[in-house]
Amino acid sequence: MKHILITGVSTGIGEGILLELIRNGYFVFGTVRNPKDARRLQKEINSDLFFPVIADITQNKTVQAAYKVIQKKLASNPLDAVINNAGILIGGPFLHLDIEQYRQVMEVNFFGMVNIMKTFIPLMGNVHKKNPARIINISSVLGHYGLPYISTYTASKFAVEGFSDSVRRELEKLNIKIIVLIPGAVKTRIFAKNATDDYAYAKDSVFEKSGHNMRKQMLRREEQGISAQQVGAQVVRILKSPKPKPRYHITGSPWIEWYWPKYLPDKYLDFILGKMYR
Ligand SMILES: NC(=O)c1ccc[n+]([C@@H]2O[C@H](COP(=O)([O-])OP(=O)(O)OC[C@H]3O[C@@H](n4cnc5c(N)ncnc54)[C@H](OP(=O)(O)O)[C@@H]3O)[C@@H](O)[C@H]2O)c1
Repeated sequence: MKHILITGVSTGIGEGILLELIRNGYFVFGTVRNPKDARRLQKEINSDLFFPVIADITQNKTVQAAYKVIQKKLASNPLDAVINNAGILIGGPFLHLDIEQYRQVMEVNFFGMVNIMKTFIPLMGNVHKKNPARIINISSVLGHYGLPYISTYTASKFAVEGFSDSVRRELEKLNIKIIVLIPGAVKTRIFAKNATDDYAYAKDSVFEKSGHNMRKQMLRREEQGISAQQVGAQVVRILKSPKPKPRYHITGSPWIEWYWPKYLPDKYLDFILGKMYR
C-alpha cells in the first residue's frame, strides 16, 4: 500500500485530493491545524486509510511532532509521496499592505513547504526504487504571471516554482521526483476568506475602484472554478504515472488562465489588465 502525506486537508483542494486518494486506495496522512477538523473529517470519511495529523506548517515544533507520529505509524514502510498543498492568500494594493502580510504569506506558502520537504524527505523511499518517490508542490497559474492586488501570493508562488526547479535537479540523485501542479481557479474559499478586509485599506485611495473590481473578479473566478475533486483526480494520475513530468497545469479555461497571460508579451498583457482593472 502506498503512503502519502498531504498538508492542509481541512478544506478546499486539500480535502478534494484527500478524498480522491482514499477512493484510489492510498493511505493518507493529512495535516490539519485544528483537532476539530480532524474529528469532523474522520467522521465524514470513515476509513482506515485516513490518518489525521495536527500540524501548523509555520511552527517547526508541531511539524517535528507530526514527523514522530508519522514515522511511528509508517513503521518500516517508506513515505511514497508528499503533497505540499497548505496555502493562504492575502490580497490588496501593494502600498496598502504591510511587510508582515508579505512575511505571513511567504511563511505558509514557501517556508512552510520547504520545512515539510526537509523534514519528511528522510522518510521517503530509497535510491534504487523503480517507481520513484514524488513530491507534488501545489503552485498556481499566478506563479507564472502577476495580476494586480495579489502580489503577496504571486511572489510566494513564483518562489515555489523557482525553488522546485532548482531542487528537482538535485533530488534526481535520490530518485525523488519534484512535480509542480499548477491549478487555475478552483472552487474553494481561499480568496473569499480574506476578501472582506483586504481592500478596506485602499478606501479613498486611487486604488479603491480597481481594487474592488479585482476583488469582484477574483470572487467570481473562484465561484466558476473547477472542483477540488478534479485537482485530486489529477494528483492521482501524477502518482500513477511511471514517468511524471516536472509540471502539470489544470484549469477550466486554459486560454484565459494559462496560454494568453503566460505567453502574450508583457506590454499587451499590461494593456488588457489595465482596461480590466480600471
Ligand atoms: N483555490 C484556487 O483557486 C487555487 C488556485 C491555485 C492554487 N491554489 C493553491 O491550492 C492550495 C490550497 O488552497 P485552497 O484553495 O484549497 O484553499 P483553502 O480551502 O483555504 O485551504 C487551505 C488549506 O491550507 C491550510 N493552512 C493554512 N495555513 C496553514 C498553516 N500555517 N499550516 C498548515 N495548514 C495551513 C488550511 O487549514 P485551516 O483550515 O486550518 O486554515 C486549509 O486546510 C494553496 O496552496 C493554494 O495556493 C488554489
